[in-house]
Amino acid sequence: MIIPRRCEAMDTKPSPPPPPPPLQQRKWAVPLLASVLLSSVLLSASLLFLSSGQTLLFLSFSQIPSSAADESLFVEPKLRLPPLPARTVPRLAYLISGSAGDGRSLRRTLRALYHPTNRYALHLDLEAPPAERLELAAAVRNDSVYARFGNVQVVTRANLVTYRGPTMVANTLHAAAILLKEGGDWDWFINLSASDYPLVTQDDLLHVLSSLPRRMNFIEHTSDIGWKEYQRAKPVIIDPGLYRLQKSDVFWVSEKRSVPTAFKLFTGSAWMMLSHQFIEFCLWGWDNLPRTVLMYYANFLSSPEGYFHTVICNAPEFRNTTVNHDLHFISWDNPPKQHPHFLTLDDFARMVDSNAPFARKFGRDDPVLNKIDKELLGRDADGFVPGGWYGALKMNRTDTHYIVRNVNELRPGPGAKRLRHLVTGLLSADGFDEKHCI
Ligand SMILES: *[C@@H]1O[C@H](CO)[C@@H](O)[C@H](O)[C@H]1NC(C)=O
Ligand SMILES: *[C@@H]1O[C@H](CO)[C@@H](O)[C@H](O)[C@H]1NC(C)=O
Ligand SMILES: *[C@@H]1O[C@H](CO)[C@@H](O)[C@H](O)[C@H]1NC(C)=O
Ligand SMILES: *[C@@H]1O[C@H](CO)[C@@H](O)[C@H](O)[C@H]1NC(C)=O
Repeated sequence: MIIPRRCEAMDTKPSPPPPPPPLQQRKWAVPLLASVLLSSVLLSASLLFLSSGQTLLFLSFSQIPSSAADESLFVEPKLRLPPLPARTVPRLAYLISGSAGDGRSLRRTLRALYHPTNRYALHLDLEAPPAERLELAAAVRNDSVYARFGNVQVVTRANLVTYRGPTMVANTLHAAAILLKEGGDWDWFINLSASDYPLVTQDDLLHVLSSLPRRMNFIEHTSDIGWKEYQRAKPVIIDPGLYRLQKSDVFWVSEKRSVPTAFKLFTGSAWMMLSHQFIEFCLWGWDNLPRTVLMYYANFLSSPEGYFHTVICNAPEFRNTTVNHDLHFISWDNPPKQHPHFLTLDDFARMVDSNAPFARKFGRDDPVLNKIDKELLGRDADGFVPGGWYGALKMNRTDTHYIVRNVNELRPGPGAKRLRHLVTGLLSADGFDEKHCI
């Protein structure tokens, strides 16, 4: 705690006043008095001309805080959260990442997710050969719609990403930083991989999100870390991806560490939708919590399943913004293995019934993706998903022309109804307000 220093409370005794000077030395006293008077008049005049904000700042230096516990003494409360945008239809920022051989499925996922007002960062990790990254970049450049809206970017300085290692979280933060820097005019950040696919159109998603508070963070989480205490929290791992150029698996240090006492551990799904405010909180780091937790997670196995969860639940200004869901349909084996199982045509009905906007994980060009395109998204092969911004101009039996229409118009379909059902269920669940971060 900072205790204000007061001049009166100085230990040293003030020295006695000097003896009055002899009369002949006082000749300068009148001009001095006049100049002091003049300068104080000038100073108060200049204060009047300062803008009110500057005046307040200036005056605040001369004020002595009334109590030592005054909140204004602390730096962090003064660093306000960014203001929320006022637009009615929100914007999303997507990271879609993949590795060697994922270029084609990444392009397909991008197509299915595309909307002109969103932003997209595509990342092919360092394991993918440069030729594949260049091909992806060329395909984006070559596409007239992507070029027209300029909202798709390929991360050129790719990262080496180790499966289960902290380099995965670092990569996610890197992409979020790029998306913030490039305008940053978006409301939510969504992290996907090339083996994810949407089950609703962007019009459906944006329509449902329009009515939600922009502060909300969809992040599945629990403090009941169970078996993960012994298998995740206590072991110490090193990720060679942090300092090497070739991919290799994480390795274990023989020492174990104890469970943290400085913050509480949370765990959950590695898939999430995070608010712009929370992303800024994590990236700017005016509060030290996101940084210390990041350093802690550098040696934690499967850090994507805990980093954001632990930060958000240990930050009082954010914990009440959590919604305990990852917006994904994921089919785990029972008991769960390291990977979820690949979704096929047999899972289609369950996928739709889940009302989730996204599903994973899909094999490259699995037939079920065609079924999703046809029945849920209304998308032709290699085409965009029709919606308010994009649709058929004129159609005859042999030819269909699509054109870009009003990018601010949404045409929600049946997917919006399903998603609305999911979101309403989550937000109106019993005790929603009391069940954050438990
Ligand atoms: C660019 O687009 C044209 C037609 O739209 C296509 O013929 C060509 O192969 C594309 N080039 C690349 C590098 O994708
Ligand atoms: C982000 O996306 C990747 C997919 O490439 C995933 O493996 C990772 O766990 C995700 N989550 C976080 C928090 O980084
Ligand atoms: C969060 O919610 C709890 C329970 O409703 C409440 O007691 C607490 O004051 C809230 N915190 C903030 C920062 O709004
Ligand atoms: C369909 O439309 C295209 C382009 O507008 C045109 O060239 C073609 O003749 C039309 N076909 C029929 C059967 O009307």
